[in-house]
This record gives sequence, structure tokens and C-alpha cells, in this order.
Amino acid sequence: MTRLVAGVILLLLSVTGIVSAGRDATGDVLRLPSEASRFFRPSDDDEVGTRWAVLIAGSNGYWNYRHQADVCHAYQLLKKGGLKDENIIVFMYDDIAYNYENPRQGIIINSPHGDDVYQGVPKDYTGEEVTVHNFLAAILGNKTAITGGSGKVVDSGPNDHIFIYYTDHGGPGVLGMPTYPYLYADELIDTLKKKHASGTYKSLVFYLEACESGSIFEGLLPEGLNIYATTASNADESSWGTYCPGEYPSPPPEYETCLGDLYSVAWMEDSDLHNLRTETLHQQYELVKRRTLNGNSAYGSHVMQYGDVGLAKEHLFLYLGTNPANDNFTFIDENSLQPPAKAVNQRDADLVHFWDKYRKAPDGSARKVEAQKQVVEAMSHRMHVDNSIQLIGKLLFGIERGADVLKTVRPAGQPLVDDWKCLKSMVRTFETHCGSLAQYGMKHMRSIANICNAGIQTEQIAEASAQACVSIPSGQWSSIQKGFSA
Ligand SMILES: *[C@@H]1O[C@H](CO)[C@@H](O)[C@H](O)[C@H]1NC(C)=O
Ligand SMILES: *[C@@H]1O[C@H](CO)[C@@H](O)[C@H](O)[C@H]1NC(C)=O
Repeated sequence: MTRLVAGVILLLLSVTGIVSAGRDATGDVLRLPSEASRFFRPSDDDEVGTRWAVLIAGSNGYWNYRHQADVCHAYQLLKKGGLKDENIIVFMYDDIAYNYENPRQGIIINSPHGDDVYQGVPKDYTGEEVTVHNFLAAILGNKTAITGGSGKVVDSGPNDHIFIYYTDHGGPGVLGMPTYPYLYADELIDTLKKKHASGTYKSLVFYLEACESGSIFEGLLPEGLNIYATTASNADESSWGTYCPGEYPSPPPEYETCLGDLYSVAWMEDSDLHNLRTETLHQQYELVKRRTLNGNSAYGSHVMQYGDVGLAKEHLFLYLGTNPANDNFTFIDENSLQPPAKAVNQRDADLVHFWDKYRKAPDGSARKVEAQKQVVEAMSHRMHVDNSIQLIGKLLFGIERGADVLKTVRPAGQPLVDDWKCLKSMVRTFETHCGSLAQYGMKHMRSIANICNAGIQTEQIAEASAQACVSIPSGQWSSIQKGFSA
């Protein structure tokens, strides 16, 4: 009788899937679901749900080759890891592979001896579709808010894991985009909070490469959202391009541009090799930190982590999958790749391109003239922006105090600015009179934030900007024609 009852219960349980009964090498066994998953998926934690990824290169132009190369590489890595195209959303301007400057048409590489990483990359959002609006809507999974593109969004559920990777120029509190406006930290953080509130992920990992990338999360990303973020640099330093002309290791001689970024290639080249079922986020953070610091030389930055740092004990497999070819790889700390001898500040990488182009072009050629014009234009824009900001600081705070106020850095743990509306309205006012901050000028975002923090009103900065910039710049630097970064 008892045997019969036990048998009926067992049958019911197995029909309902609560236990699975079976016979294997160990004889008759009764397995609880947790044990079954341990047997059949010996490799990972609590894998359930779907892996989603959003990859974005926030720049365009051949001199920014490296950002789109990074994103293409990340796609190949995830694809080899087993993610499906329907779960990988790619934002890239897509002006590199067939750019007239590209020596290998239709091919993009991310390291000097690297294979093509461009083939097969989904073109979800390209050209003018690479916008802040579409990027944030894609994260939120809001299809109706998307304009153009494939319409692919992170249509995730409560058990899913999300990986977001952003690579571009940035500045304090801001990330670049190939279109205006740029992405401000407050909007990104609000979006992440909304995503969390919608209950549509289990945990989210954010890898961010940009100058001053720490400032995007510093004092802004709270714990408890199940988000773990790492950044290429702290809140107050540049991040670095790598595999640049004239550096070691350098790109093949026909490339007059950097092929990658220091933090980005560090995490990807590590992931390319390792069995990601056994490597944790924390182990990768330590390796990437060491490589990106570059021996603490003048050519490196401090990788930072933010948010729910406890998530770092999870395996990378949960987010990136793993390439079966690496299954036998045993994780040893020493097998990370060596840092390069030199790297190029993100903000100087465009000059490196123009300069290398100038140097190699035959004397008297149209190409040499073009390259010279590019160097001169870039340099004069830099001088214009730097000088205008300095002058505005002096006009607002006096000759002595001006420079100090502008370069003040708030203590760690405090956000860049208290009033983001103020920051954005100051940026618009400045750009109305003085032209676009553009890729280079984002570095001055801290100065503008400090002007807000000092309680200066919009009318005051309007007056100071009008005095500092007597004529409104035209052409490519005109905000009136091209749009505002805020
Ligand atoms: C999605 O976006 C549309 C248009 O911007 C907006 O009206 C709607 O409220 C959004 N839906 C959700 C769920 O946030
Ligand atoms: C891993 O090692 C096992 C045992 O040596 C071998 O049978 C298998 O083919 C290896 N897998 C890979 C992907 O190299």
C-alpha cells in the first residue's frame, strides 16, 4: 500500500515536472529540479531567461574608426558566445567599412593582426538613426517610441540578463553621439531606473568606454537596481585609444587611424580567450583594470566599478555566453594579454589621424592639402573653445578666481552637477554664441557644471558668452545650423 502511494506520488510529480525520475549510471535516482539542472548544466549559476545585448558606437568619421571596430568586435564575441541576432541590438553609424579612407574596403579590424569583425553585424540603427532617443527606447523595450531602424528593442522578461556596451568620446556627465543631442548622465540613469521599475530584467551589466566615463555613474547610480557597471576611466581623466599609428603595437602601415580603445580591447581580448563559464565579472574587472592602467604610465586610465558590485561574483557566461572552443581553457591570472607600450588620448586620436595622413601624403598632392586643412581646422576649433570657456570663467568670477572655479572637481561620491536642467540650458546658451562644443569641447562640461553649481543664472552666461564670442561661428561648428549638444 505505501509503495503504491509512493509510486502514485512519484508519477504525479514527474508528470507535473516537479521531479524527474530516471535510470542512469548511478542507478535509480530521484532528482529535484535543482539537482537536475546541476547535472545537465554543470557549468553555470542560475541560468534562466534570455541574454540581451545593446552595443553602441557613439561616433562617426574615419578618425573615430576604433569605436565602430570595438562594437563590431563585441558583436562577434557575443555571437560566438551563443547569443542570437534577435537579442543583440547594434547602433553604429556605419561609415567606416566603405569609407574612402579605409585601406581594406568592406573590412573592419580591431587589432593589428585581427580578422574582419564587420561581416554579419546587424545594421539595426545606422547613420542618423543612431540617436539618444532610439538608444534609450531600445533599452526600455519601447517599440512605439523608435524612429527608423530595424525596430529591434530589448523585449526582455524578469529572468533575463542584459549587457550594454557603449564606446565613444565623452566628457564629464556626457556621452557623445554621431547626432545631436548628446546623452547626458541623468537621462541614462533615469532610463536604467525605469527599466528596473518595469521588472524586465534580473540583472544588467554596463561596460562603458569614454573620457571621464566614471562621471556617468559617480554619485548617480544607486545600489539595488541589480546593475553592475564598469568604466574605462574615473570621473576626471581621459580614456585611451590603442593600436594607433606610430605607437607600439601599431596598426598595419596602410592604416592611418587607431584600431581600438584600451579598456575595450582589454575586456574583449580577455573574453575572446577564456572559458566564460568559469571567469567571473570581478576577475575580468581586475585584468582589465591592470591592462588599462598600463603600468600606471602617462598612457592609461583607472577602470572603475559602480552599482551593485556584489554582482561581480557572477560568471561572465550569464551575459556574454561563451565560445565552446574555449571550454578547456583554465583561468589563470597571468594569461591576460600585455598592455601596449603606448596609447593615444581619445581626444587626440583625430589629430593622430590627420597628422599621419599629412605625413604620408606625397608632397604637393591634393591629399596633403586636405590633411593640412583638417589639422588646422581641428586645432583652431580647439583653441576657440578653450579660449572662450576660459574667458567666460574670468568674466563671471574674475581674473583670479575664474580658472579655479572652472576646474574644481567635486569629491568622489558626489555627482557632477545638482541641476541637470541648468547644465543643459547653459550648454545651449554657450553653443548659441560660441558654436558647438563638439567631440573635443565635451571636455569642458565640468566647467559649465561648476558655473551652475556656483548659482550663475542663464542670463549671466548669455551675456558672458556674447562678450567672449563676438561672432557666431559658421559652417560645421555652427549650432544654429547643426543642432545643439544639449
Ligand atoms: C513608449 O513611448 C511612447 C512614445 O514616446 C510613449 O507615449 C509611451 O508612454 C511609452 N511607453 C512606455 C511603456 O513607456
Ligand atoms: C576539451 O578536452 C577534452 C578532453 O581532453 C576533449 O575531448 C575536447 O575535445 C576538448 N574540447 C575542446 C573544445 O577543445
